[in-house]
Amino acid sequence: MPKLLVAPSILTADFARLGEQIREAEAAGVDWIHLDVMDGRFVPNLTFGPLVVEAIRKVSRLPLDVHLMIVEPERYLKDFAQAGADWITVHFEATPHAHRAVQQIKELGKKAGLALNPATPLEAMLPLLPELDLALLMSVNPGFGGQKYIPGSTERIRRLAVLREHLNPACLVEVDGGIKPENVAEVYRAGADVVVAGSALFNNRPVAENMEKLLGEVYA
Ligand code: DX5
Ligand code: ZN
Repeated sequence: MPKLLVAPSILTADFARLGEQIREAEAAGVDWIHLDVMDGRFVPNLTFGPLVVEAIRKVSRLPLDVHLMIVEPERYLKDFAQAGADWITVHFEATPHAHRAVQQIKELGKKAGLALNPATPLEAMLPLLPELDLALLMSVNPGFGGQKYIPGSTERIRRLAVLREHLNPACLVEVDGGIKPENVAEVYRAGADVVVAGSALFNNRPVAENMEKLLGEVYA
């Protein structure tokens, strides 16, 4: 099985020392940095915009995986691309023009992702799957870190991984929300290529220790 990529979500990082936390995560061997952009409308939480992406771009050379939990994301794609995003993911539920948004991300020279909330049928991913670089399945209801993994997500990962093999083997499957040492092996075996982990990496212990605990379960 391919190496599981780990993308720490900075949502539960200590924003008073964000640069330090990013460097800590890099030293711990994470693969991407996952940036949760929230507008208080698509999700009940408000986080940050392109300014923070730009600031993180200056301190990390890792791929920046920008997860747009905002309505009408097409309004801001250029701003996030110019801020230094490498991967830009929009939510199917956030725009009537998901296809055009994916096209715009690619025209900006970035990797394009589409995300589905837990209640959105998996079939919504199909029309765009052949054109995606990333297919993101939410395993929590978006808006906050530290939530519980929704168990039904594993079957969705399994089904999406099979569809991906048929429709676009190059597309990565990313799973986002509630990833912990207790469930990461199950998620990996179901077919995830990338897992997002926020509280599992930034809470309670140093990132390196949390990372070891997480990966220890995957390759056990
Ligand atoms: C939730 C975000 C997730 C979240 C992950 O809306 O998209 O990336 O921050 O945090 P944990 O890993 O703590 O569930
Ligand atoms: Zn996210």
